[in-house]
Amino acid sequence: MSGERLERIRVNGDVPEHVAVIMDGNGRWARARGLPRHLGHREGMKAVREVVEGAVEAGVRILTLFAFSTENWRRPAQEVSALMGLLQLYARKEGAELRRQGVEVHVLGELQRADATTRDAVNAIVEGTRGGGAMRLNLMISYGGREEILRAARLLVERVEKEGMEPDEIDEGVFADALFTRGLPDPDLLIRTSGEYRISNFMLWQLAYTELHMTDVLWPDFDREDLYEAILDYQGRERRFGRVTVA
Ligand code: IPE
Ligand code: IPE
Ligand code: MG
Repeated sequence: MSGERLERIRVNGDVPEHVAVIMDGNGRWARARGLPRHLGHREGMKAVREVVEGAVEAGVRILTLFAFSTENWRRPAQEVSALMGLLQLYARKEGAELRRQGVEVHVLGELQRADATTRDAVNAIVEGTRGGGAMRLNLMISYGGREEILRAARLLVERVEKEGMEPDEIDEGVFADALFTRGLPDPDLLIRTSGEYRISNFMLWQLAYTELHMTDVLWPDFDREDLYEAILDYQGRERRFGRVTVA
């Protein structure tokens, strides 16, 4: 099964270089089983493992996972601490395996809002996987698209005021360089699970021309076959970027 879809992806040839995922539906997965929400998050960690492996297999170069949003800080304290605990667990348990797979982990977001234990664990996985050449994995933690844009605006104002940069010099490239995603191409494909049709403040600048794939599958049930399905869907799209297709 896996081989079949992967084979079709390879034959099609145009593998999305950058895939971003809004991993949603952990709570509903748990509720459907009469379990507490945190067990849904725990199960979601397995899906992360699946998708990272699947993405490496398919030849994706950059995988960006939305793990915790700026707004998620407003969830009950108990759930926030369960999520931070899982992040620590992931960072401690997966580092060695990710290094073996050649996955280089980066963490993007307002990480200073997290507690010291979480920050240390996350920094350790970043350090431990540095130099991995197979795929870059961006974990978006305490990340919000509007926050990121505001932060960039502040950085640029500072450069105008202190470094004498001219406001006219601020073009799309300069602005993009002030975002957390500095130096990265925009996502080619965005996947959102759990049947929600919204962006939820994710990568507002970067998603301008990204192809969207929404699926009803809840994140803990999402596996590499679902990823391959999304890539095949992407490969069937015609990306026009506002232009007309040359006949
Ligand atoms: C996604 O699952 C994980 C995070 C947002 C951290 P949810 O916790 O949002 O699950 P639902 O949407 O309530 O089912
Ligand atoms: C988006 O999911 C955030 C992450 C997946 C980390 P949410 O569950 O927080 O989004 P809404 O509340 O449904 O828009
Ligand atoms: Mg949700």
